[in-house]
Amino acid sequence: MNRISSYLVVAGVLVAAACTLGERKMTVAPELIDAALKGGWAASTPEWLARHTQDETMRLCTQYNNEPPKAVAATIEASARASIKYPADGKLIGDWRQGERLAQSGYGMRFTDYPARNPTGGNCYACHQLSEAEVSYGTLGPSLLGYGKIKDFTAEAIKATYEKIYNSHAVLPCSNMPRLGANGVLTPEQIRDAVALLMSRDSPVNK
Ligand code: HEC
Repeated sequence: MNRISSYLVVAGVLVAAACTLGERKMTVAPELIDAALKGGWAASTPEWLARHTQDETMRLCTQYNNEPPKAVAATIEASARASIKYPADGKLIGDWRQGERLAQSGYGMRFTDYPARNPTGGNCYACHQLSEAEVSYGTLGPSLLGYGKIKDFTAEAIKATYEKIYNSHAVLPCSNMPRLGANGVLTPEQIRDAVALLMSRDSPVNK
Protein backbone atom coordinates (compact mmCIF):
# COMPACT_ATOMS: atom_id res chain seq x y z
CA MET A 1 0.00 0.00 0.00
CA ASN A 2 1.40 3.42 -0.81
CA ARG A 3 1.69 6.16 1.76
CA ILE A 4 -1.42 8.14 0.75
CA SER A 5 -3.72 5.13 0.72
CA SER A 6 -2.43 4.03 4.11
CA TYR A 7 -3.21 7.52 5.46
CA LEU A 8 -6.72 7.16 4.03
CA VAL A 9 -7.16 3.82 5.75
CA VAL A 10 -6.00 5.37 9.03
CA ALA A 11 -8.42 8.28 8.58
CA GLY A 12 -11.28 5.92 7.74
CA VAL A 13 -10.68 3.73 10.75
CA LEU A 14 -10.40 6.74 13.04
CA VAL A 15 -13.65 8.25 11.74
CA ALA A 16 -15.41 4.93 12.20
CA ALA A 17 -13.96 4.70 15.70
CA ALA A 18 -15.03 8.27 16.52
CA CYS A 19 -18.57 7.59 15.34
CA THR A 20 -18.91 4.48 17.42
CA LEU A 21 -17.29 6.15 20.42
CA GLY A 22 -19.83 8.99 20.02
CA GLU A 23 -22.52 6.39 20.60
CA ARG A 24 -20.39 5.07 23.49
CA LYS A 25 -20.07 1.70 21.77
CA MET A 26 -16.73 0.26 20.79
CA THR A 27 -17.37 -1.71 17.62
CA VAL A 28 -13.97 -1.33 15.97
CA ALA A 29 -11.51 -3.93 17.22
CA PRO A 30 -8.71 -2.16 19.12
CA GLU A 31 -6.16 -4.33 17.26
CA LEU A 32 -7.42 -2.85 13.97
CA ILE A 33 -6.93 0.71 15.22
CA ASP A 34 -3.46 -0.19 16.55
CA ALA A 35 -2.45 -1.76 13.25
CA ALA A 36 -3.74 1.23 11.24
CA LEU A 37 -1.89 3.69 13.45
CA LYS A 38 1.34 1.72 13.32
CA GLY A 39 1.08 1.32 9.53
CA GLY A 40 0.36 5.00 8.95
CA TRP A 41 3.32 6.13 11.06
CA ALA A 42 5.79 3.44 10.05
CA ALA A 43 8.51 5.93 9.18
CA SER A 44 8.44 7.73 12.56
CA THR A 45 11.33 8.05 14.97
CA PRO A 46 11.61 5.40 17.73
CA GLU A 47 10.47 8.09 20.19
CA TRP A 48 7.18 8.52 18.31
CA LEU A 49 6.72 4.80 17.72
CA ALA A 50 6.98 4.21 21.48
CA ARG A 51 4.01 6.53 21.94
CA HIS A 52 1.76 4.14 20.00
CA THR A 53 1.86 1.76 22.91
CA GLN A 54 -0.65 2.77 25.56
CA ASP A 55 0.48 2.82 29.17
CA GLU A 56 -1.66 1.10 31.79
CA THR A 57 -3.74 4.22 32.53
CA MET A 58 -4.57 4.83 28.88
CA ARG A 59 -5.28 1.16 28.32
CA LEU A 60 -7.78 1.05 31.21
CA CYS A 61 -9.42 4.35 30.19
CA THR A 62 -9.83 3.05 26.63
CA GLN A 63 -11.18 -0.26 27.86
CA TYR A 64 -13.90 1.48 29.89
CA ASN A 65 -14.55 4.37 27.46
CA ASN A 66 -13.27 6.79 30.13
CA GLU A 67 -15.85 5.61 32.66
CA PRO A 68 -13.95 3.07 34.74
CA PRO A 69 -15.78 1.18 37.50
CA LYS A 70 -14.95 2.37 41.04
CA ALA A 71 -12.22 -0.15 41.79
CA VAL A 72 -10.42 0.52 38.49
CA ALA A 73 -10.77 4.29 39.00
CA ALA A 74 -9.17 3.90 42.43
CA THR A 75 -6.22 2.01 40.90
CA ILE A 76 -5.70 4.71 38.24
CA GLU A 77 -5.95 7.45 40.87
CA ALA A 78 -3.47 5.73 43.18
CA SER A 79 -0.86 5.18 40.47
CA ALA A 80 -1.30 8.80 39.28
CA ARG A 81 -0.82 10.04 42.83
CA ALA A 82 2.32 7.91 43.24
CA SER A 83 3.79 9.51 40.08
CA ILE A 84 3.77 13.05 41.50
CA LYS A 85 7.15 14.62 42.22
CA TYR A 86 7.55 17.97 43.91
CA PRO A 87 10.25 20.63 43.42
CA ALA A 88 13.35 19.87 45.53
CA ASP A 89 12.93 22.99 47.71
CA GLY A 90 9.25 22.23 48.38
CA LYS A 91 8.04 25.61 47.04
CA LEU A 92 4.86 25.08 45.02
CA ILE A 93 4.35 28.64 43.75
CA GLY A 94 6.72 30.13 41.17
CA ASP A 95 6.56 33.09 38.82
CA TRP A 96 3.17 33.78 37.20
CA ARG A 97 4.82 35.64 34.29
CA GLN A 98 6.67 32.46 33.32
CA GLY A 99 3.42 30.58 33.93
CA GLU A 100 1.57 32.85 31.47
CA ARG A 101 4.31 32.22 28.89
CA LEU A 102 4.04 28.47 29.16
CA ALA A 103 0.23 28.59 29.25
CA GLN A 104 0.39 30.36 25.87
CA SER A 105 2.96 28.00 24.38
CA GLY A 106 2.11 24.81 22.50
CA TYR A 107 5.77 24.19 21.70
CA GLY A 108 7.07 20.66 22.09
CA MET A 109 6.61 17.06 20.96
CA ARG A 110 5.54 17.93 17.40
CA PHE A 111 7.43 16.81 14.26
CA THR A 112 9.04 20.19 13.90
CA ASP A 113 10.12 20.35 17.55
CA TYR A 114 12.88 17.70 17.25
CA PRO A 115 15.55 18.37 18.30
CA ALA A 116 14.02 20.77 20.87
CA ARG A 117 15.11 24.40 20.50
CA ASN A 118 12.79 25.89 23.11
CA PRO A 119 11.31 24.85 26.44
CA THR A 120 8.10 22.85 26.07
CA GLY A 121 4.87 24.70 26.80
CA GLY A 122 1.76 23.61 28.72
CA ASN A 123 -0.72 24.85 26.09
CA CYS A 124 -3.27 25.62 28.83
CA TYR A 125 -5.10 28.21 26.71
CA ALA A 126 -5.82 25.52 24.11
CA CYS A 127 -8.35 24.10 26.59
CA HIS A 128 -8.97 26.77 29.26
CA GLN A 129 -9.87 30.42 29.64
CA LEU A 130 -7.35 31.87 32.13
CA SER A 131 -6.95 35.65 31.96
CA GLU A 132 -9.42 38.19 30.64
CA ALA A 133 -6.86 39.72 28.28
CA GLU A 134 -6.46 36.53 26.22
CA VAL A 135 -9.62 36.07 24.16
CA SER A 136 -8.35 33.14 22.09
CA TYR A 137 -8.85 30.01 24.19
CA GLY A 138 -10.37 26.55 23.94
CA THR A 139 -13.30 25.26 25.96
CA LEU A 140 -12.52 21.57 26.34
CA GLY A 141 -11.63 22.33 29.97
CA PRO A 142 -13.53 24.63 32.38
CA SER A 143 -12.76 28.36 32.57
CA LEU A 144 -10.05 29.01 35.17
CA LEU A 145 -10.71 32.76 35.34
CA GLY A 146 -10.50 33.88 38.99
CA TYR A 147 -9.33 30.38 40.03
CA GLY A 148 -7.16 31.49 42.97
CA LYS A 149 -9.82 33.88 44.27
CA ILE A 150 -12.47 31.15 44.09
CA LYS A 151 -10.14 28.80 46.01
CA ASP A 152 -9.32 31.49 48.57
CA PHE A 153 -5.55 31.16 47.84
CA THR A 154 -5.28 28.47 50.54
CA ALA A 155 -2.16 26.30 50.91
CA GLU A 156 -4.25 23.14 50.36
CA ALA A 157 -5.67 24.54 47.12
CA ILE A 158 -2.16 25.47 45.95
CA LYS A 159 -0.98 21.90 46.57
CA ALA A 160 -4.09 20.44 44.90
CA THR A 161 -3.52 22.66 41.84
CA TYR A 162 0.11 21.53 41.59
CA GLU A 163 -0.99 17.88 41.76
CA LYS A 164 -3.79 18.40 39.22
CA ILE A 165 -1.34 19.85 36.69
CA TYR A 166 1.32 17.23 37.44
CA ASN A 167 -1.05 14.33 36.88
CA SER A 168 -4.70 15.13 36.21
CA HIS A 169 -5.71 11.48 36.80
CA ALA A 170 -4.77 11.80 40.47
CA VAL A 171 -7.87 13.98 40.80
CA LEU A 172 -10.14 12.66 38.04
CA PRO A 173 -9.29 9.21 36.64
CA CYS A 174 -9.57 9.19 32.82
CA SER A 175 -9.48 12.99 32.65
CA ASN A 176 -9.04 14.55 29.21
CA MET A 177 -6.34 16.82 30.60
CA PRO A 178 -2.79 15.73 29.67
CA ARG A 179 -0.52 14.39 32.42
CA LEU A 180 1.89 17.26 32.06
CA GLY A 181 4.35 16.42 34.83
CA ALA A 182 4.06 12.63 34.81
CA ASN A 183 4.72 12.51 31.05
CA GLY A 184 7.68 14.85 31.24
CA VAL A 185 6.00 17.65 29.27
CA LEU A 186 6.65 20.16 32.05
CA THR A 187 9.27 20.12 34.82
CA PRO A 188 8.24 20.59 38.49
CA GLU A 189 9.66 24.14 38.27
CA GLN A 190 7.51 24.92 35.22
CA ILE A 191 4.46 23.44 36.93
CA ARG A 192 4.90 25.74 39.92
CA ASP A 193 5.02 28.68 37.50
CA ALA A 194 1.67 27.49 36.11
CA VAL A 195 0.40 27.19 39.70
CA ALA A 196 1.51 30.81 40.27
CA LEU A 197 -0.52 31.88 37.24
CA LEU A 198 -3.63 30.32 38.79
CA MET A 199 -2.97 30.93 42.47
CA SER A 200 -1.09 34.26 42.91
CA ARG A 201 -3.04 37.28 44.03
CA ASP A 202 -1.27 39.50 41.48
CA SER A 203 -1.74 37.15 38.51
CA PRO A 204 -4.02 38.38 35.67
CA VAL A 205 -6.14 35.25 36.30
CA ASN A 206 -7.25 36.76 39.63
CA LYS A 207 -7.75 40.41 38.57
C1 HEC B 1 -6.10 19.09 26.18
C2 HEC B 1 -6.83 19.99 27.03
C3 HEC B 1 -6.21 20.51 28.30
C4 HEC B 1 -4.99 21.14 28.45
C5 HEC B 1 -3.91 21.38 27.41
C6 HEC B 1 -4.95 21.56 29.83
N1 HEC B 1 -6.09 21.19 30.49
FE1 HEC B 1 -6.59 21.59 32.41
N2 HEC B 1 -8.32 20.53 32.22
C7 HEC B 1 -8.78 19.98 31.04
C8 HEC B 1 -10.07 19.36 31.28
C9 HEC B 1 -10.91 18.64 30.23
C10 HEC B 1 -10.39 19.56 32.63
C11 HEC B 1 -11.67 19.12 33.36
C12 HEC B 1 -11.59 17.66 33.74
C13 HEC B 1 -10.65 17.45 34.89
O1 HEC B 1 -10.83 18.07 35.96
O2 HEC B 1 -9.72 16.66 34.73
C14 HEC B 1 -9.26 20.29 33.21
C15 HEC B 1 -9.16 20.68 34.54
C16 HEC B 1 -8.18 21.53 35.04
C17 HEC B 1 -8.14 22.03 36.39
C18 HEC B 1 -9.15 21.70 37.50
C19 HEC B 1 -10.26 22.70 37.43
C20 HEC B 1 -11.25 22.52 38.58
O3 HEC B 1 -12.40 22.23 38.29
O4 HEC B 1 -10.84 22.67 39.74
C21 HEC B 1 -7.03 22.84 36.49
C22 HEC B 1 -6.57 23.60 37.72
C23 HEC B 1 -6.39 22.84 35.19
N3 HEC B 1 -7.13 22.03 34.33
C24 HEC B 1 -5.24 23.56 34.89
C25 HEC B 1 -4.55 23.47 33.67
C26 HEC B 1 -3.30 24.15 33.40
C27 HEC B 1 -2.61 25.12 34.33
C28 HEC B 1 -2.90 23.77 32.15
C29 HEC B 1 -1.63 24.11 31.44
C30 HEC B 1 -0.38 23.91 32.17
C31 HEC B 1 -3.93 22.86 31.63
N4 HEC B 1 -4.90 22.71 32.58
C32 HEC B 1 -3.89 22.26 30.38
C33 HEC B 1 -8.14 20.00 29.83
C34 HEC B 1 -6.89 20.54 29.59
